[in-house]
Amino acid sequence: MMETRVVRAWGDMERDRSLMEEAGKLIRKGELVAIPTETVYGLAGDALNPASSKKIYEAKGRPSDNPLIVHIAERAALNRIVSGIPEKAEILMEAFWPGPLTLIFKKSGDVPMETTGGLGTVAVRMPVNRIAAEFIAASGGYIAAPSANASGRPSCTTAEHVYEDMKGKIPLIIDGGEVGIGLESTIVDLSGDRPCLLRPGYISLRMLREKIGEVDTDPSIEGVMDENAHPKAPGMKYRHYAPKGELYIVRGAPEDVIERVNSLCDSAAEKGLRTAVISSDETLDRYRADIIRSLGSRQDEESIARNLFRVLRDMDDEGADLIYSEEFGSADMGMAIMNRLIRAAGHKIIECQAGGSEKNVILSEARKMSS
Ligand code: TXA
Ligand code: MG
Repeated sequence: MMETRVVRAWGDMERDRSLMEEAGKLIRKGELVAIPTETVYGLAGDALNPASSKKIYEAKGRPSDNPLIVHIAERAALNRIVSGIPEKAEILMEAFWPGPLTLIFKKSGDVPMETTGGLGTVAVRMPVNRIAAEFIAASGGYIAAPSANASGRPSCTTAEHVYEDMKGKIPLIIDGGEVGIGLESTIVDLSGDRPCLLRPGYISLRMLREKIGEVDTDPSIEGVMDENAHPKAPGMKYRHYAPKGELYIVRGAPEDVIERVNSLCDSAAEKGLRTAVISSDETLDRYRADIIRSLGSRQDEESIARNLFRVLRDMDDEGADLIYSEEFGSADMGMAIMNRLIRAAGHKIIECQAGGSEKNVILSEARKMSS
């Protein structure tokens, strides 16, 4: 098995110089290096080298029809990999690059099909994280980087999480501390006639519409979709972020949710199951369960976003069998949070209504996406 080193970086080119040189050499040789970005940790390889992209799929255990995002460190690098830049893309890049926004373009011939999962389009993002930018520049300028988790697991927000999933599989993890945002970038498809949001993130629909007017949303975002519809971002069709225990989202007025969750936990405990609750600070001390974790205050959606993947991983470390989560907002950042949580729950939502009588409880295994 390969030895995996974890090395701290500082985002200061003087201090990081020898590390970046080493990382750049690995990438040019076709090896993989895990890196911090402002959203989540990425598993980086040379985007223009088909063999590197194959290695990425292997290390993650990810199906190879799921395309990778190409990361660049400067705007000028875009021209080589796309076959045209629409006006609306110019506006969004001006407003949000570098930053947590991925744009989809028609690709040029320089981008191998292995990197785009066979698609004629390419997803591109320019991270604002200093370590990521230094690394990309040191590595030839074109880095394919999916989230650094093993396929299906929650994305990684710390280098320790990357180590859990990638040890023995890659030679180097660059440790930049805990990430700032904690959810993957917003993805907007600009390769068609109308701009379309494929994955919600920190850059919200409202922020996008302020800049370019109308933006459609891919049906897969709400988590409920027609069996025949295909999500435009192939990655959105796979089971994602899921903890080992069975996760349910419990929806309803706060008092009803607390009552329902406590009674569900009581009956699970009687069966000898280890129960867990994902709550907010406001309701943390109201639950009875073996494990109770808050994602943060409902007043602070950014903290909820930042903690979500870590708490989902904690559930595995704690050996939770059954997990009940509160629902979080649906506007702005809330849309991105719920998009991930609904996937993690495999679309299992328990609706509770006033009165809480048994017949009012609908287990809406919302029409599942084709998996
Ligand atoms: O924040 C992020 O975007 C992180 C960091 C590391 O930059 N990366 C990331 O990559 O989340 P990944 O591979 O975990 O998710 C990429 C998503 C997948 O759902 C994939 O299907 C979609 O982007 N995607 C990539 N290229 C695409 C394309 N050409 N057309 C449609 N969807 C695409
Ligand atoms: Mg991912």
